[in-house]
Amino acid sequence: MIRKIPVIGYRISLAALVSGVTGFFSRGDRDEFRDILAGFVQCRHSCLVNSGISAFYLALLALKKISRRTEVILPAYTAPSLVVAVKKAGLKPVLCDISLKDFNMDMHAARQQVSRKTLCIVCVHMFGIPAGDIVRFKHGLPEDVFLIEDCAQAMGSEIAGRPVGGFGDLSIFSFNRGKNLPAAGGGGIFTNSGVLAPVMEEVAGELSVPGPGYELRLFLGFVCLFILFRPFYYSLLYPLVCRFRDEGVPEDFTAEGYTSLQAGLGKSLFEGFGESCMQRYENAMALIDALGNMKGIILPCIRDDLLPAFNRLPVLIESPESRKRAEKELMRNGIGVSGLYFRPLHHIFDLGYSKREFPNAVYLAERLLTLPSHPLVDKETLEKMSALIGKVLS
Ligand SMILES: Cc1ncc(COP(=O)(O)O)c(C=O)c1O
Repeated sequence: MIRKIPVIGYRISLAALVSGVTGFFSRGDRDEFRDILAGFVQCRHSCLVNSGISAFYLALLALKKISRRTEVILPAYTAPSLVVAVKKAGLKPVLCDISLKDFNMDMHAARQQVSRKTLCIVCVHMFGIPAGDIVRFKHGLPEDVFLIEDCAQAMGSEIAGRPVGGFGDLSIFSFNRGKNLPAAGGGGIFTNSGVLAPVMEEVAGELSVPGPGYELRLFLGFVCLFILFRPFYYSLLYPLVCRFRDEGVPEDFTAEGYTSLQAGLGKSLFEGFGESCMQRYENAMALIDALGNMKGIILPCIRDDLLPAFNRLPVLIESPESRKRAEKELMRNGIGVSGLYFRPLHHIFDLGYSKREFPNAVYLAERLLTLPSHPLVDKETLEKMSALIGKVLS
């Protein structure tokens, strides 16, 4: 049996499982976990909800309550569910291209899309790589254009020693199974704005909290993760697991409240969080070092003032043919890799753009391979990944 490593992972202890069960009975865990997160993100106000996409949706509803503007600027390569949320909120998605330097939104392109209709700009810290120029970008925006930081993939990443999530007017996080803190799903909205906080609390306060049946399903899902985030069991169960891969585009979602069970699990998982972020950083930087001299590969440029808690390491393989071969070769050798979202947003949704627009986003989608960087990836696997990619590119 070849040892297999999933593209996502986290060390989940038995103690975390037990905490989930105790959290189920202790309603105070929700407030405690919310306060822990708010302290970590360095934001005074926060609300927890059932998913990252619900958090984003509620952030938009909150902004809608204080502004009549209707357009939301998004990078052309990011999570498709963001478009679903923008439309559900009755707003219009407007796209801008990305940068091939750090694979994040091209700040200049985003600025050019700002008009009198712009409600907000969504700066997504993709793959865990912080958008390093966010402070300067925010200062250059008109006061009535809001900045939402999407930190779903970047919890634990830092810019000049400050964690992402406190740079925008509002920020959102996700705790789903593929994220840096996979606490049985859920999401959070954070802000330091005394004006936005009551509106955010008002919209989140209208949500109903799902019942015990839902919590039980969440818990069973978490037990599955507990098992599958162990390479031995992942390898054993792989033929079953790969049938459950979900690569479809979401059509809708339901915004609901956050449960005590999730808070109990989240609180316990958070104990190892700092260390896991450092491992993500070290693993990805070791790969960047090993792949750095190879021809035919584009790596993200990581500035010295950034400390990314890489959710995965994104690399672009210049020849789409070689990219396919590298993916096949890595998978054949038990290393879970993925293209993440296979198309840019304007190729998935009809948003009124030609397919040729946003050429960097199109280029990236055709060449992207994301490599695992989570704490379960050992030195041997890192070496194997770079050797296999080197073989394909030589
Ligand atoms: C950048 C980004 N934003 C938002 C979300 C939504 O988070 P969730 O899956 O918790 O709804 C995701 C999830 O994949 C994401 O990657």
